[in-house]
Amino acid sequence: MTARVPIGIVMNGVTGRMGYRQHLVRSLLAIREQGGLPLRDGSRLWPEPVLVGRNEAKLRDVADRHGLTDWTTDLDAALARPDVSIYFDAQVTSEREKAIGLAVAAGKHIYTEKPTATTLHGAVELARAADTAGVRHGVVQDKLFLPGLRKLDRLVRGGFFGRILSVRGEFGYWVFEGDWQEAQRPSWNYRAADGGGIVVDMFPHWHYVLEQIFAPVRAVTAHVTTHIPRRWAEDGQPYDATADDAAYGIFELDGGVVAQINSSWAVRVNRDELVEFQVDGTEGSAVAGLRRCRVQHRAATPKPVWNPDLPSTDDFRAQWQEVPDNEVFDNGFKAQWEMFLRHVVEDAPYTWDLWAGARGVQLAELGLQSAREGRRVEVTELRS
Ligand SMILES: NC(=O)c1ccc[n+]([C@@H]2O[C@H](COP(=O)([O-])OP(=O)(O)OC[C@H]3O[C@@H](n4cnc5c(N)ncnc54)[C@H](O)[C@@H]3O)[C@@H](O)[C@H]2O)c1
Repeated sequence: MTARVPIGIVMNGVTGRMGYRQHLVRSLLAIREQGGLPLRDGSRLWPEPVLVGRNEAKLRDVADRHGLTDWTTDLDAALARPDVSIYFDAQVTSEREKAIGLAVAAGKHIYTEKPTATTLHGAVELARAADTAGVRHGVVQDKLFLPGLRKLDRLVRGGFFGRILSVRGEFGYWVFEGDWQEAQRPSWNYRAADGGGIVVDMFPHWHYVLEQIFAPVRAVTAHVTTHIPRRWAEDGQPYDATADDAAYGIFELDGGVVAQINSSWAVRVNRDELVEFQVDGTEGSAVAGLRRCRVQHRAATPKPVWNPDLPSTDDFRAQWQEVPDNEVFDNGFKAQWEMFLRHVVEDAPYTWDLWAGARGVQLAELGLQSAREGRRVEVTELRS
């Protein structure tokens, strides 16, 4: 029988949406279901989650549901355990920095949801502390692992676009206010004091998508607003939505690429997917979403003529060609967990670290500054 090598992983925030569904069930438990993570030496790495949270009853419930027995409300005690190598954080954003700081001090490797902190200063301090402690660190950058964006990345690497001119992203959907229909996202997302806000939430995602697939971001101009100022919380009580719920951003990338991305919780979807990016290049264009990616090559580009007096005879959407999968795409969160685990135990390369996370936080901070001051803000390089 193949040797099973256990690896203890503290999972904090596992009763939340992301912690439970994507990280515990779809990633670590899924790795166990497939018999562990195969390593180079022929053994199999076996994640041993230690569930950590504030609420005993909720933790026990999660544990029972999956036949797990290792859970505690005492983070310090969990971090003191020698059989734990990794600390993972999917708590509300505002609690993250403190907890990761404790885990670094305890000498644990760090894997975390984004944003890594609520301020750039905090994010940089975490990255520095982790480097100084000599621990491995990684930040979730799940969108890069979406089938649609994987295909888009493949097109970029293959030179499909020629010179890339622009990227236009549309992200968002209607998040119910919570009065006559329950809201489908947690209320803390709409309170600034609790670490909410669509800029803090989504700009870190846009940062790594732009930086990793296209080019580094050099400047940002953003208009940020709160379209829906009053919402109703989980307990049915109304509250003031103090955080931004829509952001209209322009990002200037290296090489003159202009990216413009709208993010909104107050928009109704008239697209094929909840996020879509259109990329236009001299040789061709593409529209990529969560799963699909369609292209139009220069040679197959129609020549529309503006004439509002006549109904259009072109079916523009039909003029695009589907990019085939050509491979099996695993759950993105799981794929990234596997890479991080290999980074920790086998020294496999891994680039999405706390510095990458800090650059995402930086873009959010500069986006908010741009909106506040009504001007374009340049992105300076972070120094370790
Ligand atoms: N990668 C992604 O696509 C993605 C998507 C959504 C959210 N996130 C990130 O994941 C994190 C969690 O988001 P979520 O949507 O799962 O939130 P959630 O509200 O569903 O879960 C939050 C978790 O934090 C815990 N928690 C700890 N301290 C808390 C406090 N003081 N108040 C409230 N809860 C507290 C909760 O018990 C719960 O387990 C956030 O940082 C968010 O930015 C990432």
